[in-house]
Amino acid sequence: MGAAIEVTPSGQACGASVRGVDLSAPLDADTVAAIRAAWLEHHVLSFPDQPMSDDDLERFTIAFGGFGNDPYIAPIAGRDHVIAVERRAEETSPLFAENWHSDWSFQEHPPAGTCLRSVTVPPRGGDTLYANQHAALDAMPDELRARIEGKNAIHSARGGYAPDGFYGDDDAAGDRSMDIRPSAEANDTHIHPIIRAHPETGRLGLFSTFGYIIGIEGMSDEEAAPLLGELYHYQSSEPFQYRHVWEPDMLVMWDNRSVLHRATGGYDGHDRLLHRTTIAAWRP
Ligand code: SIN
Repeated sequence: MGAAIEVTPSGQACGASVRGVDLSAPLDADTVAAIRAAWLEHHVLSFPDQPMSDDDLERFTIAFGGFGNDPYIAPIAGRDHVIAVERRAEETSPLFAENWHSDWSFQEHPPAGTCLRSVTVPPRGGDTLYANQHAALDAMPDELRARIEGKNAIHSARGGYAPDGFYGDDDAAGDRSMDIRPSAEANDTHIHPIIRAHPETGRLGLFSTFGYIIGIEGMSDEEAAPLLGELYHYQSSEPFQYRHVWEPDMLVMWDNRSVLHRATGGYDGHDRLLHRTTIAAWRP
């Protein structure tokens, strides 16, 4: 029997913190099941006071479904699946991941989740924002919902990671500390429904957003772009948000099928470093 975990909801639109578990040791099946149930209910889990190594991060990721496929960002030295989300105190490149997104939604089988462990936390700023996409759909005005019902979104990484994208060749000329590797493969596209049943819970939600979504099947760009813009503002709005404030020795895992997320700044003059893995798409 695993230890009973203690789950405390954030009181915001999603998110909970979890205590009563030691992530520096292997987890038994009961504890994994209890964490998974809490994750599916709250969509974002934070684990405070967890001094962890990258071995611990990898073992945790494997326990929840194995590694996703992480393109365009080189892993850190000595690891195949851990990337550094990093910004140095003096860095001037635009913030990484400042737009709302669901990780790698442009893939055919996007990662179920993402794990982020704090290594260096600035004294202020650098919060991560989440937006609950089940709550956003539940509260959506009928008129907006009617315009997206049954529609498929076209996803692509090109706006970010193609050579002429945001993190492309021009960005590489700057002083970004993250090891981003743009590629022409970013022009590939995959289709996912805009309103989608969560693969594990069956609960309907909005999947991903403008950015990785570049169009809507069967709709002209002139028609799709304003709709996607309106949707972006609605689905990321304050009532659906959870603001995560980082602490040293903290792990966060989130469900890319249920939430959007984005980075925030406000820590100029301070280093920030987190180590990240993605959890592979769920297979029953
Ligand atoms: C990410 O999108 O993986 C990074 C989020 C953050 O830096 O807060």
